[in-house]
Amino acid sequence: MTEKLHIIPHNYKLGQADKELKQGHKAACLWFTGLSGSGKSTIANAVEQVLFEGGYHTYILDGDNIRNGLNKDLDFSEAGRNENIRRIGEVAKLFCDASIVVLAAFVSPYKKDREILKDLMGDEFYEIYVDAPVEVCEQRDVKGLYKKARAGEISNFTGISSPFEAPEAPQIHILTHQENIEESTQKVVSYITSKLKL
Ligand code: ADX
Repeated sequence: MTEKLHIIPHNYKLGQADKELKQGHKAACLWFTGLSGSGKSTIANAVEQVLFEGGYHTYILDGDNIRNGLNKDLDFSEAGRNENIRRIGEVAKLFCDASIVVLAAFVSPYKKDREILKDLMGDEFYEIYVDAPVEVCEQRDVKGLYKKARAGEISNFTGISSPFEAPEAPQIHILTHQENIEESTQKVVSYITSKLKL
């Protein structure tokens, strides 16, 4: 660990504020948390399209995709998820630094991990709870994973054999079993566009 002492961060001439000015909007991290099948990716996808068409510079980080690449060495144990979210937080922060509106869709079931994200990103971090009862997610079972979890083929499955600690005070709370996609999307877009003004 002593090597760390010899790492000195470099300050570059162009900072986030310069890039935000050029892009014409602030950076932000929209963090979608919720059970598998709650609709995180669907809403993130729809929100990104609206923002993109509105001239915002956007990027989506998605659990299933990132776990096929950058984080393919991580499992779904608590420690594996902690490290997954930690790395994605750092990546999301880099995107903010590049003045991008980054949309991150991860189960991120542990409060502690989401607290770390808040500390890391401060005001740029927006917690969006994509909420649907586990029974509804299980009924949807878009990827067939709940069935496998019930059959014991997947261990540590969130909502079945692994906990989900619901956010207590998210900036946005979406109830995908009660709202349609357009309503949920609109909710996020109208909240966030005012925050992205320079
Ligand atoms: S997280 O808990 O570490 O945030 P992440 O969002 O990256 O999870 O990945 C979740 C996705 O992986 C789910 O959408 C699902 O498709 C898949 N998956 C595979 N195994 C599990 C599991 N044990 N628990 C939850 N999701 C799983």
